[in-house]
Amino acid sequence: MNQAAREDLTTPTFPPPEELARNANVTEATYAQAEVDDLAFWAEQAKRISWSKEPTEVLDWSNAPFAKWFADGELNAAYNMVDRHVEAGHGDRVAFHFEGEPGDARAITYAELKDEVSQLANALVELGVQAGDRVAIYMPMIPEAVIAMVACARLGAPHVVVFGGFSADALVNRINDCGCEIVITADGGYRRGKPSALKPAVDKALLQCPQVRNVIVAKRTGQDTEMVQGRDLWWDDFVATQSTEHTPESFPAEQPLYVMYSSGSTGKPKGILHTTGGYLVGTAYTHWATFDLKPETDVFWTAADIGWVTGHSYLVYAPLLNGATSVLYEGTPDTPHKGRWWEIIDKYRVTILYCAPTAIRTFMKWGSEIPERYDLSSLRILGSVGEPINPEAYLWYRKHIGHDDTPVVDTWWQTETGMHLISPMPGVATGKPGAAMRALPGVSVEVVDDEGKVLGKGESGLLVLTKPWPAMLRSLWNDDQRYIDTYWSRFDNMYFAGDGAKRDADGDIWLLGRVDDVMNVSGHRMSTAEIESALVSHPKVAEAAVVGATDETTGQAIVAFVILRSDAGDGGDDIVNELRTHVANEIGAIAKPKSIMVVSELPKTRSGKIMRRLLRDIAEDREVGDVTTLQDSSVMDQIKSGLKGGS
Ligand code: WT7
Repeated sequence: MNQAAREDLTTPTFPPPEELARNANVTEATYAQAEVDDLAFWAEQAKRISWSKEPTEVLDWSNAPFAKWFADGELNAAYNMVDRHVEAGHGDRVAFHFEGEPGDARAITYAELKDEVSQLANALVELGVQAGDRVAIYMPMIPEAVIAMVACARLGAPHVVVFGGFSADALVNRINDCGCEIVITADGGYRRGKPSALKPAVDKALLQCPQVRNVIVAKRTGQDTEMVQGRDLWWDDFVATQSTEHTPESFPAEQPLYVMYSSGSTGKPKGILHTTGGYLVGTAYTHWATFDLKPETDVFWTAADIGWVTGHSYLVYAPLLNGATSVLYEGTPDTPHKGRWWEIIDKYRVTILYCAPTAIRTFMKWGSEIPERYDLSSLRILGSVGEPINPEAYLWYRKHIGHDDTPVVDTWWQTETGMHLISPMPGVATGKPGAAMRALPGVSVEVVDDEGKVLGKGESGLLVLTKPWPAMLRSLWNDDQRYIDTYWSRFDNMYFAGDGAKRDADGDIWLLGRVDDVMNVSGHRMSTAEIESALVSHPKVAEAAVVGATDETTGQAIVAFVILRSDAGDGGDDIVNELRTHVANEIGAIAKPKSIMVVSELPKTRSGKIMRRLLRDIAEDREVGDVTTLQDSSVMDQIKSGLKGGS
């Protein structure tokens, strides 16, 4: 999507509703205050957190780019997420309205959450888990998933949540890269009206993870589940019988909190490391600011999976830190019917919804008559995340979901950033459909050219962060050098985000998509290199090139070009399905190419680099662009005339 072109349309803009502006958490004064002294501003935000030892330092950047935030402070993350709300008399407040896909529901109060987190913490201690040990979590969207994350945080044992849609192989890589010895999972979860098993993938993965000692298994679907004697423990037997008393220990602010793997521009996923104090401050503050959160009255819903960073920061951490009431929904938006989300909003009187543009575009396709059947009047703020929201989707979202008076906040951030960095503030900004607008108070972004020169109004370039922020990643797991190379080497003293951006005539920021070989499919980051390496690991494939082609619903769709090995002949009739299944097994169903084309050549430059731009032209069914830098310029004609493939 070419946002720059879209901006010229005479799209309407939307000033904040008067009442919201009057009572807004963030005002122009907040920006002004942060501008005077950003470190003093962050010190002030740190008061959102209860410290067992108050920090006296804010930022230690002496060993840049390795940051320490609030370094001499001490705290316990889980104490901040549950205990302190109970101590403050809010034990009866609902932390989560859990809604299962089949329609079963459970309200979990802060007091109940504290008890269940304590039980799991005691269980993990019994299994020998100590501060610093990594624990893998592979769960459906059920309360036990949240409990597992908070219990790990309570012990200072970094969790490594692996998205439930990832395959056994992806699980192996993550468990082994992080050296996890404990896995928390479930028998399965409900997906599209059916139980979908998870435990068999764990069993398969653990054949290659000899260091894993124990597996805790929550019962969700009740499907037949094999349990390995001496290794596997049912949650109901082992966790639910533990004491509900557990004393939280204090940890230094820089205690590792979690590792979350994300795709980069090479084949190997990066283990993004977040630590405790700064992450908690950054997520609690941004949740309060971007969503104008009023924890006493709001009902907040992040419709994202805990397997992604959005689920970490804004489904688990920030809402619990802020003592908010949230919705946790297990399933898909169209089960058992296409009005499921709106039914949930109606039922729980949700006031703030946070989701991805790809979901909005899907709802647009299904038609506005579906949400019209429900009472959505409780909504007061709509959030968007994952990719630029195109003006059509923004306008539809605001009109049909937000009864035309609800601000839409388009939040730009990354797994690495941990927290929102660019977003309109709902009580201040005049919303422009398609623009992420402005850095949050306290955050410093610029758009620069290739040499790092700061660009001004009306100019396009690369997005950089010019100052550290509290929830920033601290490094990549076991790979400090890759951390430096990926984010801090392109420019001096600036974090390179990998996104293109422009400032419009008013100086507001528009995101223009990735500038590297990373695709964005339904708001999820996918690496071309990772899928290429999955494809070439198939015995029939000699070479593969993957591109992201523009797709109306998912933003980008994965399109693969493969050259078969000479002994594979034409690969057989089912070669396309065979390869798609292979990618699903290697990475997960979400990485399956939408289409695969078998070709005899790939377009390469003289230095051997694949020219993805030309393949994208084919994938998007366009005239092929400039071929003069190709080593053999007839290759494109050969590719086009000999295509074999399909979706
Ligand atoms: C990449 C980060 C942040 C949680 C979900 C994705 C793209 C994300 C926006 C937005 C334009 C966006 C960027 C970014 N992105 N939000 N509001 N507008 N682009 O996290 O998997 O770490 O991906 O997603 O390209 O670099 P992620």
